[in-house]
Amino acid sequence: MYTLLKQSGHARRGEFKTVHGTVQTPAFMNVGTVAAIKGAVSSYDLVDLRTQVELCNTYHLHLRPGDKLIHELGGLHKFMGWERPILTDSGGFQVFSLAGLRKIREEGVTFASHIDGRKIFMGPEESMQIQSNLASTIAMAFDECIKLPAEYSYVKPSCDRTYRWLVRCKAEMARLNALPDRNNPHQMLFGINQGGTYEDLRIEHAKKIAALDLDGYAVGGLAVGEPKEEMYHILSVVDEYLPQDKPRYLMGVGTPGNIIEGVWRGIDLFDCVMPSRNARHGHLFTWEGIRNINNQKYERDTLPIDPQCDCPTCRRHSRAYIRHLFRAGEKLGQRLAVMHNLYFYNTLMEKIRTALEEGTFEAFRAQYVDLLD
Ligand code: GUN
Ligand code: ZN
Repeated sequence: MYTLLKQSGHARRGEFKTVHGTVQTPAFMNVGTVAAIKGAVSSYDLVDLRTQVELCNTYHLHLRPGDKLIHELGGLHKFMGWERPILTDSGGFQVFSLAGLRKIREEGVTFASHIDGRKIFMGPEESMQIQSNLASTIAMAFDECIKLPAEYSYVKPSCDRTYRWLVRCKAEMARLNALPDRNNPHQMLFGINQGGTYEDLRIEHAKKIAALDLDGYAVGGLAVGEPKEEMYHILSVVDEYLPQDKPRYLMGVGTPGNIIEGVWRGIDLFDCVMPSRNARHGHLFTWEGIRNINNQKYERDTLPIDPQCDCPTCRRHSRAYIRHLFRAGEKLGQRLAVMHNLYFYNTLMEKIRTALEEGTFEAFRAQYVDLLD
């Protein structure tokens, strides 16, 4: 259940109650695709990093180790040792971005596994069944994430089909939640708005999915190759058609600047591989801008990555040490860098929430949106 605590323009400070605890929004979800944060960051590290929600993937966990096994072992929370909310993406994105040889039909998608080439079918029912076995807090609808640019003549029928898939997801989730053996019989379902960069398709689709009274709504199919101004425009367009009393999630976004702009346009939840992926390459976010720790100038630098940061890495280690670990190819360098970047993103969201509470979000946006883009 979502409670709006304070609004500033379109930006929302809220609280989202789940069976696994309450999420303070706006929030950033940390990406643990295969039930692990890349960079050897554990569930107990995530508690230190003040992570509120972890995101995992239906597609990956179905292939390995298999959702039936995770069901048998008591669900994903128990399996990973993580008690706070988990959101699972439906496979609708990964099937279209990772798997080979896809064939889309009304029933669903046939594709080849990226692990062993095995032929697999996934439709809305299969995606809900897998996510129900995983027993995540929030399941995402099975959708088609359309690569941009795309012709109107492709996007329109795809959106209509994604809507029909959503109706099937809702029915299947209700059936599964009523089964006697579910590890989470209160699993929530979020719908996903699609429509490419076509305003009329976005609006028509948003209106139709809003009428289904789901637990939350995502905006999908963005940050897939279009200029960021187009993404911002679509967010502004769909804002008034998404229910005010439900959380809104912008999928796969983005830079801190993108997140500030998303919040400004009414978004509550975000996820992105950027903080962990960039960290693994030595690209570190700080309140003074982005630093590349591989740079020679840090050889004798005894300061922490960010003097303003109190993450587990910055409390103990210098730039010189982390640079050394990267140059020596030590995995510890990646781990310390990922922890810093995730803490930075979680802190960014905390600062956004405080600014919304104190009525200073406009000033915060002006100060950071370009610096952190
Ligand atoms: N992740 C990023 N974009 C999308 C999307 O459009 N659909 C799904 N299911 N996942 C996403
Ligand atoms: Zn730090």
